[in-house]
Amino acid sequence: MDQVEGARELARQLLAVPLPRRWFHSQGVGRKAESVAALVGDDGPALVAASWLHDVGYSPDLVVTGMHQLDGARYLRDVARADDLVCRLVAHHSCAFIEGRNRGLGDQLADEFPPVGGMLSDAITYADMTTTPDGEPIDVEQRLAEILDRYGPDHLVAGSISEAGPLIIGSVQRIKAALAEG
Ligand SMILES: [Fe+2]
Repeated sequence: MDQVEGARELARQLLAVPLPRRWFHSQGVGRKAESVAALVGDDGPALVAASWLHDVGYSPDLVVTGMHQLDGARYLRDVARADDLVCRLVAHHSCAFIEGRNRGLGDQLADEFPPVGGMLSDAITYADMTTTPDGEPIDVEQRLAEILDRYGPDHLVAGSISEAGPLIIGSVQRIKAALAEG
């Protein structure tokens, strides 16, 4: 089984039964990442694998801190023994450093998983933030609004996403520009 197939199977095992909607979303994010993988060259398989796996930290058996990016990345590192780059991408997808800081977990996140920059970081954020909870394509602005609406204005996740909004939109714009350049 190659890296991407293994990631898809692991995500299915962790999400499909307990969290079917997260599994639909993850399938959409995985497919979206496949559509932009050429932009990151040899890192394409790691990008796509991380996209399939980015939300496994929501799986009930994996929840430790309650921050899904950190719980998921730790599981992938310690239990699944996933590739280092995959773990770092999962830990930091969609500007997780802001939520980490707001939860008091920012130092742990950054110390354990050095952030990934550039096109790779933009690409996983693009894939996540242009995909609905049901796995369908959506504009980033509508996606951000949907998250705020789903969590409600006082939730830490909603506040973090509001704060991250301009950075997330920047990532999406850079990927769209790179795709347009072909
Ligand atoms: Fe997601």
